[in-house]
Amino acid sequence: MSDIQRVGVVGCGLMGSGIAEVCARAGLDVVVVELDASALAAGRERIARSLAQAVRRGKLAAKDAEAAQERIRFTDDVTRLADRDMVIEAVVEDEAVKTEVFRTLDKVVEREDAILASNTSSIPIMKLGAVTGRPEQVLGLHFFNPVPVLGLVELVPSLLTGAAAVERAESFVREVLGKHVIRSKDRAGFVVNALLVPYLLSAVRMLESGFASLRDIDEGMVRGCAHPMGPLQLADLIGLDTLKAIAESLYEEFKEPLYSPPPLLLRMVDAGLLGRKNGRGFYTYATS
Ligand code: NAI
Repeated sequence: MSDIQRVGVVGCGLMGSGIAEVCARAGLDVVVVELDASALAAGRERIARSLAQAVRRGKLAAKDAEAAQERIRFTDDVTRLADRDMVIEAVVEDEAVKTEVFRTLDKVVEREDAILASNTSSIPIMKLGAVTGRPEQVLGLHFFNPVPVLGLVELVPSLLTGAAAVERAESFVREVLGKHVIRSKDRAGFVVNALLVPYLLSAVRMLESGFASLRDIDEGMVRGCAHPMGPLQLADLIGLDTLKAIAESLYEEFKEPLYSPPPLLLRMVDAGLLGRKNGRGFYTYATS
């Protein structure tokens, strides 16, 4: 049995809300930290909607959804993470913001062998471990969106992560959360995004150059390669700001043109067209 029972999640956006939900559904005690009351309300609402959807689809009993919701406490006070066995950081993909969060976690989390994990898609784990006094406890746990549905987590040790923390994190993800684990070196993008992001950026370049239409690009990959959705639909699902940030980190790390974010993506982010999360990206969505 895992010794990880009390989990903290920092950031309750698209990913943090999903991570908090799967932890609560696994029976864990969860504390969610966000910046302010409105972000907390949005996160709570996102989790409630996702649980309700799981009930509607017959994946979860109504009483289990209710119990999961009750296991999550929401706060803007980071010191409430003091007694956690593991904290998973899922704030915006911004190195300065994340390093500040890790500095704070190092001060606040009392258990010396608590695992401090980041859900970053592209920021080196070593940079996050290095700002703490316990880099052997810091590692990447990269979940996939939507977290309650997708069964993979990439486990990313840095050069200084201890073997014990890696083993504990791996058995926690497998046995408690019931997800499959693959391991990756601490390189921008890890395994999946290093392969996926150049593909998504190529689709944006294809659209930008007038090579093919939005719908034809997506339909091509859905019908021709049996992908569940096309690349531009997937870019909207990931969030165009997040995709841009991941591409920039990959480009900075490898200096390969295939990772460089194309102008159309940059302009869309400048324009506030961020994809599904705010209703407009390559496609337009009904917002609730
Ligand atoms: P998001 O923009 O939906 O959520 C980020 C949340 O962090 C916001 O609610 C924001 O208020 C909060 N936040 C910012 N600074 C904070 C702080 N100091 N303390 C507490 N909360 C704070 O972003 P999303 O998509 O959830 O991404 C979060 C992380 O997950 C990023 O590192 C991203 O690269 C990674 N990720 C994203 C995936 C995706 O498909 N969107 C997939 C896998 C990983």
